[in-house]
Amino acid sequence: MSSRLRSALSLSGVPGLSCRRDPVHRVRSARLDISVARVGDLTELASLEDDETRHRNGCTLADELAALDGIDPALPVWTREYAMFVARERVTGGPAVIVTLAVTADRRMWVGGWVVADHRRRGYAREALDVVCAIVHRHLGVAELHAGRETDNVASGRWLASCGFVQADGPSTHVLPDGRSVESDWWRHTDERARRRCVSLYAPGLTILFG
Ligand SMILES: CC(C)(COP(=O)(O)OP(=O)(O)OC[C@H]1O[C@@H](n2cnc3c(N)ncnc32)[C@H](O)[C@@H]1OP(=O)(O)O)[C@@H](O)C(=O)NCCC(=O)NCCS
Repeated sequence: MSSRLRSALSLSGVPGLSCRRDPVHRVRSARLDISVARVGDLTELASLEDDETRHRNGCTLADELAALDGIDPALPVWTREYAMFVARERVTGGPAVIVTLAVTADRRMWVGGWVVADHRRRGYAREALDVVCAIVHRHLGVAELHAGRETDNVASGRWLASCGFVQADGPSTHVLPDGRSVESDWWRHTDERARRRCVSLYAPGLTILFG
């Protein structure tokens, strides 16, 4: 069966994706088990961040953990403005890839991510982002997904290009959360057949209009 037909026949829009009311979306790819992270996962993920990831992101998960103190660890990281997916190796169960979605005030959705250092260059980043792009377009119904990178981050550019992102216009510099100003370039991934199928009221990018 072609992937186009499989997608059309899948209620969730992404073959194999489970969309339950408690928002822990889960789907398996060839080597990864990809699901929405829970608050309780963040301590483990923070302990796996390496210097390159901290440097490129200009922030650390460890800093954000302090602000989450007292929040139910079972809570999924899944709001209208932000979501985090963790992709675990199916063989070992260990975390390999973290992919985040963030929605800015102009309602644009941005993707970012990193791979646990000793899992890099095995195609895991590509495998996870392919799935997340499908979720964004075919399940959340967002037609355009944006990404930015520090221009000298060759691995990041290759990663985005390998998943079908194309370069887009944008400012030539960008200030990271830690205040470091970097040379930047911008990317986007579009899908004209994007369609919302998610039932979660907290789905990233969802705008609810009252009145
Ligand atoms: C960027 C990153 C996510 C790539 O992860 P990865 O698992 O190594 O990537 P993959 O193995 O899936 O490879 C994806 C593509 O990138 C290429 N690539 C990965 N690392 C590379 C490197 N260091 N140099 C050149 N190309 C690289 C691969 O060859 C592949 O391209 P191809 O399909 O054309 O052959 C990873 O290096 C990382 O976590 N870096 C630190 C954090 C970061 O920079 N995040 C991005 C912020 S925008």
